[in-house]
Amino acid sequence: MAPNPFPTAAPFLPPSADIPALATAAKGCRGCDLAELPGTQTVFGEGNLDARLVFIGEQPGDVEDHRGRPFVGPAGKLLDRALEEAGIDRANTYVTNAVKHFKFTMSGTGKRRIHATPDAYEISACKPWVVAELNRIRPALVVLLGATAAQSLMGGAFRVTRMRGQLLDGPNGSNARIMATIHPSAVLRADETSRDQVYGGFVADLRTAAAAINSP
Ligand code: URA
Repeated sequence: MAPNPFPTAAPFLPPSADIPALATAAKGCRGCDLAELPGTQTVFGEGNLDARLVFIGEQPGDVEDHRGRPFVGPAGKLLDRALEEAGIDRANTYVTNAVKHFKFTMSGTGKRRIHATPDAYEISACKPWVVAELNRIRPALVVLLGATAAQSLMGGAFRVTRMRGQLLDGPNGSNARIMATIHPSAVLRADETSRDQVYGGFVADLRTAAAAINSP
């Protein structure tokens, strides 16, 4: 059978389910090819279900895939540090990813799983989960961490480098505002000479987010 050119998670979403029911249903999602990768599990969002602030990353990494929780690996540790510096308590936020499965290739030795960037059709296939999460949480502000999250909610033409740190209206008349910033792993990848500066810019964007949700 030819592969579906427009894969989607939509048939796997139970109508009017709350977040715990969505998370349970997402475990059985076969909406795109990533669910067929060996050894992965769905990593759904988690956090405060009444959050005013939602963070959306790219996809779970190796550590997240093992633990079944978003942003608990190296990028998550960096995010935690930056949140603290920006005065944001992660416990008051909801954290999720644009894509709910870890996409990877195996290293030459077959011992390491190497992150692979999700394709546009995989991002689009997973979007119904993200939209459902936002519809249930109804945050005041959604922070898009990096290009994949931005592509999911704002479309492929959106450029994080040009728009980062700006408070924007959300798409489709949603009540939430949107702010894009870099992905925390961009800080980890930066070379030593620029890492402090890249990190400082990330914290500055998070401070903008904190001020936005603290203003009436
Ligand atoms: N990177 C992401 O985008 N999300 C995670 O959960 C972990 C790393």
